[in-house]
Amino acid sequence: MTKQHHAQWSSRLTFILAAVGSSVGLGNIWKFPYMTGESGGGAFVLIYLLCILLVGIPILMSEWLLGRIGQRNPISTMSSLTTRLKRSPAWVLIGVFGILGAYLILSFYSVIGGWALAYIQLGAVNTFTGLESEAIGALFSDMLASPLQLLLWHSLFMILTIGVVLGGVTGGLERATKTLMPTLVVLLIVLVGYAATSGAFAEGVSYLFTPDFSKLSSDGVLAAMGHAFFTLSLGMGIMIAYGSYLPKHVNIGRSAIIVVLMDTAIALMAGLAIFPVVFANDLSPSSGPGLIFQTLPLAFGHMPGGWFFGLLFFVLLVFAAWTSAISLLEPIVEWFEEKTPLSRVGATLVAGGATWALGIATVLSFNVWADVAPLGIFAKFEGMTIFALLDYFTSKLILPLTGLATVIFVGWRMSREEVRENLNMGEMAFNLWRFAARFIAPLGVVAVFIVSL
Ligand code: PFF
Ligand code: NA
Repeated sequence: MTKQHHAQWSSRLTFILAAVGSSVGLGNIWKFPYMTGESGGGAFVLIYLLCILLVGIPILMSEWLLGRIGQRNPISTMSSLTTRLKRSPAWVLIGVFGILGAYLILSFYSVIGGWALAYIQLGAVNTFTGLESEAIGALFSDMLASPLQLLLWHSLFMILTIGVVLGGVTGGLERATKTLMPTLVVLLIVLVGYAATSGAFAEGVSYLFTPDFSKLSSDGVLAAMGHAFFTLSLGMGIMIAYGSYLPKHVNIGRSAIIVVLMDTAIALMAGLAIFPVVFANDLSPSSGPGLIFQTLPLAFGHMPGGWFFGLLFFVLLVFAAWTSAISLLEPIVEWFEEKTPLSRVGATLVAGGATWALGIATVLSFNVWADVAPLGIFAKFEGMTIFALLDYFTSKLILPLTGLATVIFVGWRMSREEVRENLNMGEMAFNLWRFAARFIAPLGVVAVFIVSL
């Protein structure tokens, strides 16, 4: 028996808030800056922006469109569409891989969400005030060194996520998103303002926006594309699920532009807040996943009102991570609910529990298993921890491949009329969109794969 969800978002605003809630998260504030730093700066940012524009937007629109036409969860949407259009049932794999990707991502996302929770606690007791970079660095490495601490924070983050999915209080979350997202934007502006007075603003800006292609490896190109998928929550069926709640009158193109602008602006502001602090304190931009935790507390420790801003920042970061995590857990739960005799509560506990359990591998990747490289026999994966591998296989493989399949399906396997009718845009804009969906986006993804092989 299939359970259908035909309720619709009450308004365009509700829909946009939910999509922004899913897309804006750790990807923007934690991952984008450290990946930029690891991949050499401006050239990475440029490729990332191009991927957002040429690949991300067409795929985001394709996912919403599929959801709106299929009116179901991603797997059921794809199976009803393939049946009606007489297409191969293999396209249903889009939904299957989406759920696998969501499971793998949530397992490590929750551990990093846990770091942010730990920093709420540190910020609350005013730990950062007056500390210099060494002491700030030590705070972070002490935290990583303790599997027990990481496990506790990861568990708490997972409990918070499971709690919302169990209680179904998403309405409350959307209302909170409406105030907290603008607050986050204002706070980021304050932080960029502080960075502007830190003495190395020009250096930070030029690091982010002056492309130096000699610093960008082919793997960096793949990382930039993968991150475009990650940050927009693409290739995971999530936006397909959201599209199924989308009222007919809502314009998909305009909504996509709003969500993408929000997401991109927040990532760029995070970069502008962080890199000047990095250079002003002689830190290394390529220090990896700890980058924001080693730089922003320095700023909070020295700026006027730093205690307040620091606490507020980590609270908002956790909130943004939490709304994204909920959007990752939902589809896994729905799938369990549909495929097993479990009730909603049972499905949530099983899916949440399984994600929590896999998260332990990420917890250990930063301490006890720091030298364990399960695929180390392959040169490509040498020295990569389980956390690094989970990140690699999701962002660089599963998401782009699933997204590629999605856009090929919409571009080549659906009729022009049906797509046209659902996108309701002007003739010119539609033709441009269709060209992007049929050629630019798929060839872009394939080209990046080829370059990085
Ligand atoms: N887009 C989220 C972020 O940038 O933090 C992460 C994420 C959420 C990825 C949901 C994938 C997803 F399905
Ligand atoms: Na994002």
